[in-house]
Amino acid sequence: QRLPGVARDLLDWYDANARSLPWRAPPGTAAPDPYRVWLSEVMLQQTQVATVRPYFERWTARWPTFAALAAAEDAEVMAAWAGLGYYARARNLLAGARVIAAQHGGQLPDTEAMLRTIPGIGDYTAAAIAAIAFGRRAVVVDANVERVVARLFAIQTPLPAAKPLIRAAADRVTPEERAGDFAQAMMDLGSGICTTRGPRCLLCPIRAHCEGFAQGAPERLPVKAAK
Ligand code: ADE
Repeated sequence: QRLPGVARDLLDWYDANARSLPWRAPPGTAAPDPYRVWLSEVMLQQTQVATVRPYFERWTARWPTFAALAAAEDAEVMAAWAGLGYYARARNLLAGARVIAAQHGGQLPDTEAMLRTIPGIGDYTAAAIAAIAFGRRAVVVDANVERVVARLFAIQTPLPAAKPLIRAAADRVTPEERAGDFAQAMMDLGSGICTTRGPRCLLCPIRAHCEGFAQGAPERLPVKAAK
């Protein structure tokens, strides 16, 4: 299904340029495994893609399902996490897997509101999982997406006051269909093209829609409040 405007142009670009990552299904294909989406989103909360990748591969080889992880020993899970930092995430993963195994029949709930009831899943992660694993329209805004949206709409309000404006703007461009691919396309755009310094606007698939580009200085956005 074709989508108008920003979303259509971004998804066309994603179809040809998506990063191939072990927790993704190829663009446009069936949704990826919710266990893998959940695990990757928690690992990616505070850690970069390149660091996460080998941990993700080892972890899923050892514990391929919620049930397998729920049955693991605390100490072996903490050892497998060693090096990723923010160890509360590993404790929450194990607690979450046990809740999912014991109370949800081993299946991740498929709505944002229900996802937020699982240990370790906050607002951002609930939105990301709902969109990526379950195809639900959810507004997924991490730091990369925040920068893309602030530039796209040339939002001049400084962060953090701009956050609700950026969310509302992100909501306006999020499509009904392919919300998971759209979210991941925004992430890829933010990490590879719409970078903090030196954005590569000539390669950007949504440059024609970008008010920050039109105004001539997208790299100055988003504005940060003076400290
Ligand atoms: N950062 C957080 N979630 C991500 C994803 N699904 N793909 C790439 N980077 C991410």
